Amino acid sequence: MQTPQDKKRNLFIKSYGCQMNEYDSERMVEILEKHNYSSVDEPNQADLIILNTCHIREKAAEKIYSELGRLKKINLNSERNTKVAVAGCVGQAEGQEIIKRSPIVDLVFGPLTYHQLPEMLDEIETRPGQPNKKLVNIDIPEEDKFLQLKGSRKNLKSISSLLSVQEGCDKFCSFCVVPYTRGVEISRPAKQILNEAQELIDIGAKEIILLGQNVNAWSQSNGKDTDMTFAQLINEISELNIERIRYITSHPRDMTEELMRAHRDIEKLQPYLHLPVQSGSDKILKEMNRNYSSQEYIDIIDKAREYKQDIAISGDFIVGFPGETDDDFEATLDIVKRVKYAHAYSFKYSPRPGTPAALKDHQIDEEIKSERLKTLQDLIRQQTRDFNSSFLEKEINVLIEKQGLGVNRLTGRSSYLQSVHMDGDPSFIGEIVKAKIIKTRDNSLEGIIL
Ligand code: 5AD
Ligand code: SF4
Repeated sequence: MQTPQDKKRNLFIKSYGCQMNEYDSERMVEILEKHNYSSVDEPNQADLIILNTCHIREKAAEKIYSELGRLKKINLNSERNTKVAVAGCVGQAEGQEIIKRSPIVDLVFGPLTYHQLPEMLDEIETRPGQPNKKLVNIDIPEEDKFLQLKGSRKNLKSISSLLSVQEGCDKFCSFCVVPYTRGVEISRPAKQILNEAQELIDIGAKEIILLGQNVNAWSQSNGKDTDMTFAQLINEISELNIERIRYITSHPRDMTEELMRAHRDIEKLQPYLHLPVQSGSDKILKEMNRNYSSQEYIDIIDKAREYKQDIAISGDFIVGFPGETDDDFEATLDIVKRVKYAHAYSFKYSPRPGTPAALKDHQIDEEIKSERLKTLQDLIRQQTRDFNSSFLEKEINVLIEKQGLGVNRLTGRSSYLQSVHMDGDPSFIGEIVKAKIIKTRDNSLEGIIL
């Protein structure tokens, strides 16, 4: 399928939110490159602007409307007749509403339909003598997007490459929009994933990050039962010529002992586990529909550490969920103290339209949410600082990902996902080097290459 005229055009794409969106943006670029689009860094040079959006919290969604306001002010080159598209989860959730609120938008689509981009662009193409057409495409398609994404991965965005293996979510946590914007949980077939991993390796990837909203729920079934588990998939990927494997994000309910064992047995699988608990209060966890207790979560962490003693634990927290009392919040602080996180994300609860928690009584005051968030973030920051400090004078492996800021500066990652900065020649990019840590900071390490 060819876009009309197939003339050379410029594409500006901006990604918001999670790594799934980053991955989707990479795939959109690949699709459009086949139709003669080249990426540009400035929206005012573009014939097509795509905002690949996030709807997870209100702030994230509102960002899009301010960006659209800014774009309107930019003197969009009228000769180009620049088209503006809103993709991603805001597109899926708000559909037509976006065009109503922001008439500069020509096209709205969601995370499940971006493989149809050439056809959608064809439909909104300006044709002489015809009025400009707008399109909203947020129907859940019958076909599998990934099967339609023909062609191979050609653009290595980074040494550490994203690979989406699982999409959507059936867990329906009461605060979360994902099941509504990304649809039901699906696992891509193992063969497709292994092919894509090989393509990424062929163009220079040294690390593959397997992505999914519930990545550890990935499984391949033969119609009756499971014929490949997530741990087995990781094992198969580890047989390829890749240095490191990671996965993100996991749900405690799907954390199997087999996967914990994989951290011990598969050397390429990095010692890092992002396992959101959200709250330490059993009452709140129940209200959130998380389906585990705080003790069950702690047991999982303890077991993971039994298998892999140095595994770095990270997580997500929500403060100020409806009905959260001081005691509930204390329970969250307690679980953080008990687990000792290497790193964690924390957010103020944000009511999302259409989710059950948004309708609950006892919404918490913004001021209390802010106070609790600060207390929690201070504690987590201290834990990250302690975690980083424990690396002083240690010799660790670092995968060099890119040039750092300044002459002959390099930036890489430790196995535990810390940023490591050091002096060194750019020829090291893509290599795993041994580095001695000479200084530790709140959010990074300074090393010297040995
Ligand atoms: N409000 C605040 N945080 C949220 N998250 C998801 N939904 C909401 C919401 N409505 C957080 C959770 C999740 C992370 C991706 O975003 O902590 O793990
Ligand atoms: Fe949202 Fe819960 Fe699904 Fe995670 S598990 S994507 S928080 S519904």
